[in-house]
Amino acid sequence: MDPVDELRPPDRLLMGPGPSETHPRVLRAFGTPPVGHLDPAFIDVMDDTQRLLRSTFRTDNRWTIPVSGTGSAAMEAAIANLVEPGDTAVVPSNGYFGDRMAEMVRRAGGTAEPVDAPWGEPLDPADVRTACAEYDPDVVGVVHAETSTGVLQPSMPAIADAVHDHDALLLVDCVTSLGGVEFRADEWDVDAAYAGAQKCLSCPPGASPLTVGEAAAAKIRNRETPVRSWYLDLSELDAYWGEDRSYHHTAPINNVYGLREALRLVDEEGIETRWARHERYGEALGEGLWALGLEPVVDAGARLPSLTTARLPAGLDPGTVVERMRDAYDVEIATGLGTFANEAVRVGCMGHGARRGPVLETLGALGETLVDFGVDVDPGAGVAAAVTSLREE
Ligand SMILES: Cc1ncc(COP(=O)(O)O)c(C=O)c1O
Repeated sequence: MDPVDELRPPDRLLMGPGPSETHPRVLRAFGTPPVGHLDPAFIDVMDDTQRLLRSTFRTDNRWTIPVSGTGSAAMEAAIANLVEPGDTAVVPSNGYFGDRMAEMVRRAGGTAEPVDAPWGEPLDPADVRTACAEYDPDVVGVVHAETSTGVLQPSMPAIADAVHDHDALLLVDCVTSLGGVEFRADEWDVDAAYAGAQKCLSCPPGASPLTVGEAAAAKIRNRETPVRSWYLDLSELDAYWGEDRSYHHTAPINNVYGLREALRLVDEEGIETRWARHERYGEALGEGLWALGLEPVVDAGARLPSLTTARLPAGLDPGTVVERMRDAYDVEIATGLGTFANEAVRVGCMGHGARRGPVLETLGALGETLVDFGVDVDPGAGVAAAVTSLREE
């Protein structure tokens, strides 16, 4: 076999829909030598991680854990446990991740019914209420931050009221909001929520936050059939993450180290300050994009600070722009998805990337890329507009 070279990934600035820039302290935590998953020293790490997760989710839920795996594992843990064969779940149809929820509901033996809204728009709580009346669901899923479109779902308390008036449970995907965009699990009456590490928490993927409230835990405890996934069965996982601390599977020790450090950073900064930082730099990024001649896909009231979807000037192919940004300027952004795949790009502003340097570097690289492709624009216009936005606040 030919020798395999030493690993030397390119030095990219990660400003796409995730993974985001990793904080150096998180990287150092990943490099800490592992101990055993039942070592008392690791049990302390587990306790810290759960405590920090609760404060980041703004919840007192006992069942609050990092699920081993990426955001989809936490998503599947939530759905596989909350949905029993024969159950109905109402899920949104306004983005890619609502479709993934629907697929997981079907695989759990349930029926998925939609709340309709066009891609690029949030759900209307009145439509959630109508869907509850029509389908009488056991569970209603909502994507708080739709990474495929850049839509932030406003009116979460009104949605929770609609769901609870029908005695259903509210499950929320906050993969692209947790730790960066206002999210209040208990105050908003959310029954279960899951997230990912590699977005606003700025931690490499692999251990993913999940919280489950008392009503949802009661449904899980009273299931008539066992959860179809052994690995993600929360009643089994409770043996490890609950009081007993006994073996279920070998936790990804270094992922938990990294997540703990990422959550410590949230705690040090203060969650509300962090939400404000994401808004400030998300706003500056947007101003820069519009100054370069891109156009917002999402209306101002539902725009996600952590991810902006922007239409390119006519005639530009998003894939080609993304490639040039990567290959010539070492900046990762992404193309649009679904409805917007051929017309828009998605630019992230998450965690350690939601800062002056990364935002200005991204706008500078995009300005140059547009000029490289013959667009008649001042390549520094985006940077200038972002700087003005930042100085106004
Ligand atoms: C809103 C949303 N939900 C779920 C996921 C799935 O997470 P992962 O890719 O970490 O499995 C993602 C990933 O981008 C996401 O953005």
